[in-house]
Amino acid sequence: MHLAKWAHDLAESLLAESLPRRWAHSQRVYSQALALAPALGPDAELLAAAAIAHDVGYAAAAVDTGQHMIDGARYLRDVVGADSRLCSLVAFHTSSPWEASELGLSDALEEFGPAEPELVDAITYCDLTSSPVGALVDPAERLVEVLDRYGPDHVVYRAVSAARPELLARVARVRQRSAEAAELGIS
Ligand SMILES: [Fe+2]
Repeated sequence: MHLAKWAHDLAESLLAESLPRRWAHSQRVYSQALALAPALGPDAELLAAAAIAHDVGYAAAAVDTGQHMIDGARYLRDVVGADSRLCSLVAFHTSSPWEASELGLSDALEEFGPAEPELVDAITYCDLTSSPVGALVDPAERLVEVLDRYGPDHVVYRAVSAARPELLARVARVRQRSAEAAELGIS
């Protein structure tokens, strides 16, 4: 677990002290990623690394455009020289393309393309099953919480409202793949 350990140490140094709630959330996203490992095979470590680092764009050292997925991916690429697939997963996680569209940042997001759909499904599942304080949560309830937190005038509200059907479809696909992997006896 070299890549995941490296990403864990990095995310901890950026978030644990200054943004403890984000760090608690990130740790739950990480444990959710570990639980998906049997269904992911060789990409399990990449997902774990992306899970723990997915919100580093909120750290003061990374904030630039204001879209945390892009800021985190750029920090990982430009400051610490992370693996390009790890940067891509952080860039595209959850509602990122919708948020980038709202903010006029779609070109910046494409710096990290193409996205890897199966892994984007997986990191979105991990993010949406983890509450802002690190509890396990139902994805539909999590999206309601996000909409309530930001309110209808906020870009995140508009992005998440538009993304909602696809985000829930990602969760359903991950659950289906996990069930299939369990049936095949690889979990
Ligand atoms: Fe998150």
